[in-house]
Amino acid sequence: MVVTGVDSIDVLKPRRVGNSLEDDFIVGMSSKQKFLPPKYFYDELGSQLFDQICDVPEYYPTRAEDGLLKEISHSLITDLKPDAIFELGSGTARKTRRIFDACESANCFPDYHPIDVCPEILVTSKEELSSRYSWLSVYPKVGDYMKGFAGFKNSTNQNLFLFLGGTIGNLTESESLLLLKEVRGLMKPNDSLLLGADLVKSPDLLHAAYNDSDGVTAKFNLNLLAVLNRRLKGDFQFQNFVHYAIYNPVKFQIEMYLVCVENQEVYLKKINKRIHFQIGDSILTEVSRKFTKARLESLFAKAGLGVVTHFESGVPEFALVHAKLHKK
Ligand code: SAH
Ligand code: TRP
Repeated sequence: MVVTGVDSIDVLKPRRVGNSLEDDFIVGMSSKQKFLPPKYFYDELGSQLFDQICDVPEYYPTRAEDGLLKEISHSLITDLKPDAIFELGSGTARKTRRIFDACESANCFPDYHPIDVCPEILVTSKEELSSRYSWLSVYPKVGDYMKGFAGFKNSTNQNLFLFLGGTIGNLTESESLLLLKEVRGLMKPNDSLLLGADLVKSPDLLHAAYNDSDGVTAKFNLNLLAVLNRRLKGDFQFQNFVHYAIYNPVKFQIEMYLVCVENQEVYLKKINKRIHFQIGDSILTEVSRKFTKARLESLFAKAGLGVVTHFESGVPEFALVHAKLHKK
């Protein structure tokens, strides 16, 4: 599917200069444990595959978070009456509909500002949301939220910031603190943050969620090589790599790798680099950290945010945290 309108999306103004894919690739491939930042998963196909992951039976976080949002949105919206909703890493915004439904029934009509690295998903989600909610003005911005927000206009009285999907867990501890501090810096005293985080639980459930039997997560992981081939003019052979995801109970995190199963020399024409992969070499493509209530509270406190309410689903456990600026 070709998505049109991608070029007309506003670009998020960064506060810091970040690395290019070329820089990130070279740094990641020269490291002892090769790694790549997870944002590169999300080209158009990657975003579609992630959306499919949300529907596989083993991947519980989407259903758990959606159930929580359905439960709490009405009272949250009635209480906050937001004038604007900002969402980080909005993707298809499928769960955000629970919030818009609650807005409709509370006669509250905020503007919506989704932010994502994937322009195609912003175009499609805007079209879908605008046709479902005729009152909704959608102002998408494309860019990397890790680079910070410059020239951010927070002129409305009451803003709601959303960071859903457990995406906070895909950042390292220091990155998550940096991002929360950045968001805190945008918030006014009446503003709120609603953040979704996956919680520690049985390793079996975690393992199944990142190794679904239909192999959608494997496809998603391997699609990263297609992104590299396209953007760096590379010749990664997909059949030489396999998806491998495990739960590390010491670090409370899922670790997802692409493991090389056949010796291969990869040539990346765009940066004129050759990389030797031997059987057993691996690239860490993503971590997904799992939290406890206490560790979430401490993370928020370090960022200058106070937890107003910690909502939790039943088993499999997932949390939605409503936070405001820390009262001095
Ligand atoms: N919020 C959605 C999607 C979660 S997947 C949900 O809960 O289902 C993570 C989303 O964040 C993807 O849409 C991806 O494109 C986006 N994303 C990942 N890293 C990002 C970054 N550094 N800056 C902006 N968006 C990012
Ligand atoms: N935020 C999601 C999570 O950590 C992202 C995710 C789910 C994911 N499944 C994945 C990322 C598979 C890469 C591969 O659960």
